[in-house]
Amino acid sequence: MKQPIIIDTDPGIDDAAAISIALNHPAFDLRMITTVNGNVGIEKTTANALKLKQFFTSNVPIHKGASQPLLSNIVDASTVHGESGMNGYNFPEPNYDDLTSMHAVEAMYKELKINENPVTLIPIGPLTNIALLISTYPEVKDYIKEVVLMGGSAGRGNVTPSAEFNIFCDPEAAQIVFNSGLPLTMVGLDVARSSTLSHKTVNELQVLNQTGDMLHHLFKHYKGDDFENGINVYDVYTVLYLLHPEKFDVQEADVQIETNGTLTKGATVTDFKSLFPNCSVVMSIEPSVFKDIFIDALKYCK
Ligand code: RIB
Ligand code: CA
Repeated sequence: MKQPIIIDTDPGIDDAAAISIALNHPAFDLRMITTVNGNVGIEKTTANALKLKQFFTSNVPIHKGASQPLLSNIVDASTVHGESGMNGYNFPEPNYDDLTSMHAVEAMYKELKINENPVTLIPIGPLTNIALLISTYPEVKDYIKEVVLMGGSAGRGNVTPSAEFNIFCDPEAAQIVFNSGLPLTMVGLDVARSSTLSHKTVNELQVLNQTGDMLHHLFKHYKGDDFENGINVYDVYTVLYLLHPEKFDVQEADVQIETNGTLTKGATVTDFKSLFPNCSVVMSIEPSVFKDIFIDALKYCK
């Protein structure tokens, strides 16, 4: 049976790869894409989601979400993803008739309530929409199977030495989600760093199919950390973990969010020794295994 999922996203070059798989893989029933302020502003992340919807001629609903964090000031990652948030590939202009008028939080609430099977939420941007959803409608937690999120790090950060970007953008939202009691899997920086995609593999994508060509062009403009050694397509690990959980090293931990530290705001303080873990932390995968399952998943795309 297909897994009903919702992707909450701030596209975002690595988001584009995750969305490509979520939209096309037969194991998934993508119920909607919701957008959030993150890599770039909400208008651009929403435009980018529309561009991907059009690229795949998909009928998936797109709902625009939060334009700013709960409390923190807006930061962006346009130096990493480009001014548009998805520099490198010449998408046609988005068709805004494809954008629904319902806010992302309302849309997720309505979808979760009517879905006969619990839905997996896959946030791959800041957690603002998810925190708003479970704070506004706490009863909806009964309809969420699990949350598999890209965010955090058991080790060093990427946007600061302590913090990963998605958590840093909205640490208060992350604190709400990590303490919600929902079944939670943290897909942090660690697993991507264990299996960085080589530039050779990025070049091979170009001849895989149209999606591979599109991602190749985007990845060539993706100025993520360690770019000289390859690229870390962080968001992709969420959907690949859902497809092949057995191929990943996962450890249980209690993860708490630093919201006040001058130097440590947004840190995911990860205690593997806790007797009361609140989430599973995806730590690593063999690089060759990652490459294989990534390419295999992209073969379902056009
Ligand atoms: O730190 C990596 C995360 O921040 C990824 O989700 C990337 O798209 C950015 O949102
Ligand atoms: Ca993202």
